Amino acid sequence: MPSLSSTVRDLIDDRPAEGIFRVHSRLFTDPALFDLEMKLIFARTWNFLGFEADLSKAHDFVTTSIGRTPVLVTRSKDGEVGAFLNRCPHRGATVCQQEMGSARAFVCPYHAWTFDSAGQLIGMKEKSAGAYPSNFDAMAHGLTPLARVGIYRGLIFGSLSEDVASLEDHLGPMKFFIDLAMDQGSHGMEPIPGRSVYSFRGNWKLQLDNGLDGYHLTTAHASFLEVMMRRRTGQGNTSANSLDFAKNMDARQSAFAFPNGHCALVNELPEDARRPFIDMEEVRSRIPEERARWVDLNYNTLIFPNLQLIQNTALALRIIRPLSPDLTEMHYFCLGAIGEDDDRRAMRLRAFEDFYNAAGLATPDDSAVYEMCQRGLAGGDGQWLQGYMRGVKSLEPGDSERARAFGVRADQSATGSIRSGFETQLHAAYRQWAAMMGDARMEAA
Ligand code: FES
Ligand SMILES: [Fe+2]
Repeated sequence: MPSLSSTVRDLIDDRPAEGIFRVHSRLFTDPALFDLEMKLIFARTWNFLGFEADLSKAHDFVTTSIGRTPVLVTRSKDGEVGAFLNRCPHRGATVCQQEMGSARAFVCPYHAWTFDSAGQLIGMKEKSAGAYPSNFDAMAHGLTPLARVGIYRGLIFGSLSEDVASLEDHLGPMKFFIDLAMDQGSHGMEPIPGRSVYSFRGNWKLQLDNGLDGYHLTTAHASFLEVMMRRRTGQGNTSANSLDFAKNMDARQSAFAFPNGHCALVNELPEDARRPFIDMEEVRSRIPEERARWVDLNYNTLIFPNLQLIQNTALALRIIRPLSPDLTEMHYFCLGAIGEDDDRRAMRLRAFEDFYNAAGLATPDDSAVYEMCQRGLAGGDGQWLQGYMRGVKSLEPGDSERARAFGVRADQSATGSIRSGFETQLHAAYRQWAAMMGDARMEAA
């Protein structure tokens, strides 16, 4: 148990030479650690903000948040993508209340200060009444722009801190997975309209862990596997066409820990378990075979700290929004190829709803176990958690043969089968957590 005088970094028990990796349960319960995470992690790195496809025209906007900070993302009349604090400089009200839409101007509901789609103040009610001192005009009255905004393959990221690497350097090997996803469509990919938003009473890192956890599939999702088995014998909704993992427990699994906290769990399922909605013939006609052959791969990835790109039953992207130490909001998107035919679009949606939707066959199981974890960890007595050790025996420093086959550079890799249920990919996330939380003292935490 870390002593009171130790640093936050000591809450990760990382002893590679001894084959030990444990995470302290305080990470999931301590309100002071949660506040530090908002300041030292979310406010200091690139965060996913939205899809360029949702800002296709001038004046389109979406709202989101970085940690708890509300953010407004717009396309200005000049076509520039900009991101601003969704916070009026007058008294702080959110100037935009909608999730997405199109607006030439944002009128603050409190005292009607008005901003254009480039964040500039264009109207101040009763300014001409002359109530302001002469130095007021010299102050900046527009919305505060984010320190950095970057776009990679249609995904918009932003940072509250200026002091971050370029977006491409930050993403590093994750570009391989984003490219695989975006290469499914000849014109790129878009979030299929409609979204699945729900919350669970648990810490945000429970989802961070679970998003790359294959070990729970046969227990937490036993009823899903049972449904798949029945479909295999022609019962139930056989048109839903979900992946039948139970048949493929011996398929190869690789776990990769990448720099900057990113990680991936990759399952190489056989050809007959692939997704019918990807037009592989079209993909092969467009991109080189050495990349095309992986477009249909199964992957669960984390772009640290809170973006998960997944291809299992469907191609999905989820954002984990931490609201408090024990409350998290999830935003789930099903990605579809821009311009794909109705049949493929329908197959994607049915597969997404089947497994991932808030009321799908899997997501409620996951939310239920997160809440059990949060209840189990309550009490403040603290404990080292052992859920990060599966795969330590198979660890290779750097790239495995599979990493080289995919063409990604990893900090550490493990290779086995789906039965291995690897957890070592998560070492990347917790090492990054420790590095960013740094030397903050536990008492201060
Ligand atoms: S808080 Fe926005 S105008 Fe007053
Ligand atoms: Fe799950």
